[in-house]
Amino acid sequence: MNTKILEKTVNKMMVEPKGLLAMDESSPTCAKRFASVDVEDSENNRRRYRELLVTTPELNRYISGAILFDETFNQKMSNGEYFRDYLTAIDILPGIKVDTGAKDFSNHKDEKITEGLDGLRDRLVDYASKGAKFCKWRAVITIGSSIPSTACIVSNSNALARYASLCQESDLVPIVEPEVLINGDHDINKCNDVTKITLDTLFEQLDIHNVFLGGTVLKPSMVISGDKNSNRADAPTVAEMTIKRLLDSCPTNLGGIAFLSGGQSDDEATSHLNIMNTSNKNLPWRVTFSYARAIQQSALNYWRGKDANMSGAQEILASRAKACSDASVGSLS
Ligand code: 13P
Repeated sequence: MNTKILEKTVNKMMVEPKGLLAMDESSPTCAKRFASVDVEDSENNRRRYRELLVTTPELNRYISGAILFDETFNQKMSNGEYFRDYLTAIDILPGIKVDTGAKDFSNHKDEKITEGLDGLRDRLVDYASKGAKFCKWRAVITIGSSIPSTACIVSNSNALARYASLCQESDLVPIVEPEVLINGDHDINKCNDVTKITLDTLFEQLDIHNVFLGGTVLKPSMVISGDKNSNRADAPTVAEMTIKRLLDSCPTNLGGIAFLSGGQSDDEATSHLNIMNTSNKNLPWRVTFSYARAIQQSALNYWRGKDANMSGAQEILASRAKACSDASVGSLS
């Protein structure tokens, strides 16, 4: 592990006023997103769509790194250039999702365990040799009447730590993503309690595995009411409770924090981030975004697979990326 390389990559990922574009939807997730706008799920359409995203004019003013799925990382654009090389050329760091998905957790109904550790060391060496600078691994924590279980939180945190340590061996910055799902009718206090146990367990595991925190980025969910809660907390409360949770649970020497949007509306995702950054000027780490849906969804809805809609979709994408960028420095108007 070369800590200087890792720190350099983290600094680039976290530079103001930028954040990360998550465009690493797995094939089944991409199929679902395409089906919602009547686009056929083919390799060519996935290439066309991702090409639309990365060729958006001035994307690099707002985006420091893009998380790719394996297919895109090894795919060529219509001009014959690899996506990963194009991104590097426009000063956007190429990153790669390396988990192989959240699968049913044995003996634990309604819970998931993220897989992908087998053979990971060799895959990371290959990605690094092709220019990847950082990786992502997502763990899923579900809130229900008697879940999450300790087994789910400990096993997923352990996998995240083993992944992170393998990444750093190859000088790749690990993004550790423990997503506490928004789905459910729970209130914000329940989300706060589950997020606390999840983050505390994760940092304990990262410590046990000697993961270098200065070369690590946390991608958390916000502390927020369940999407079916009848009395959802307002934006200032979400921002305040989220920052309080992070200050309480995250070591100050962590490289940076970049939120997922997790099913929040575009406005919620940007307004929550903006309030966090206007109300807290002296946080120990940069707090920015690593959104997929909250940057992409409105552009996808406009595109609907049609070439004629491409530049309109890119304008929408650029305006969403700008709003996220403004929110990441607390200057969203
Ligand atoms: P959303 O922002 O759509 O939640 O996606 C972020 C992500 O990368 C999920 O792994």
